[in-house]
Amino acid sequence: MVNIILLGPPGAGKGTQARKLVEERNMVQLSTGDMLREAQSSGTEMGKRVAEVMSRGELVTDEIVIGLIEEKLVGDSAGGFIFDGFPRTLPQADALGRLLARMGQRLDAVVEMRVDDAALVARITGRFTCGNCGEVYHDQTKPTAVEGTCDVCGSHDLRRRADDNADSLKQRLMEYYKKTSPLIGYYYALGDLFSVDGLGEIDAVAGEVAAILDQDRG
Ligand code: AP5
Repeated sequence: MVNIILLGPPGAGKGTQARKLVEERNMVQLSTGDMLREAQSSGTEMGKRVAEVMSRGELVTDEIVIGLIEEKLVGDSAGGFIFDGFPRTLPQADALGRLLARMGQRLDAVVEMRVDDAALVARITGRFTCGNCGEVYHDQTKPTAVEGTCDVCGSHDLRRRADDNADSLKQRLMEYYKKTSPLIGYYYALGDLFSVDGLGEIDAVAGEVAAILDQDRG
């Protein structure tokens, strides 16, 4: 069992790689972005506040996201947990360390996905996802085999995210560099950091991630 964090800017490919790991290694994906989008669709007051913050491309409060992770982080997962989009601030990283310690578990690797900012714009503006099963596509790099139909589940509910526009992306990148990128140094100092070239093809990136996961950890 291996617990990992996928760390990288918006559009780096965290969700794409997490879904492959779930399929191939029976790991459990914990995406705070997906949890927050679920909260939005619940229509509660909290959901409405979260929707406003996310559409501006800002980070939701540490208190809310730590609470969401705490709720999901129960019991054992056969293949381990993939933290996708969490932690994003130093207080979130500290909280995750405490939660794992309380469960008698450890973090095995933090995988930093490196992608140029210019490539991120193309990734984000071309992205669409299946509203039914969550499969992630791209107009150019990963189109559906049949236009308008999800390859995985056959649904026609293909969606674009409200925050996938140039203005939100600028703010999301700013948040990443100001609040999340310090985690690279934090995990380097803890000895948990590994980097992959996120600009490669999806399967090539997956190969690099697999090599990290398969390292002998004693
Ligand atoms: P979140 O949903 O986590 O979004 P994000 O971090 O901005 O990341 P994305 O989902 O945009 O990108 P990704 O890296 O998963 O890339 P993907 O695989 O889709 O967060 C959204 C918002 O929620 C935040 O802005 C914030 O408001 C809030 N939030 C979430 N977590 C929070 C937290 N912990 N604290 C506070 N607030 C939080 O790939 C992108 C595209 O590229 C796809 O089209 C894909 O097909 C394509 N692609 C992927 N890999 C490749 C490749 N190797 N080659 C070519 N194309 C590729």
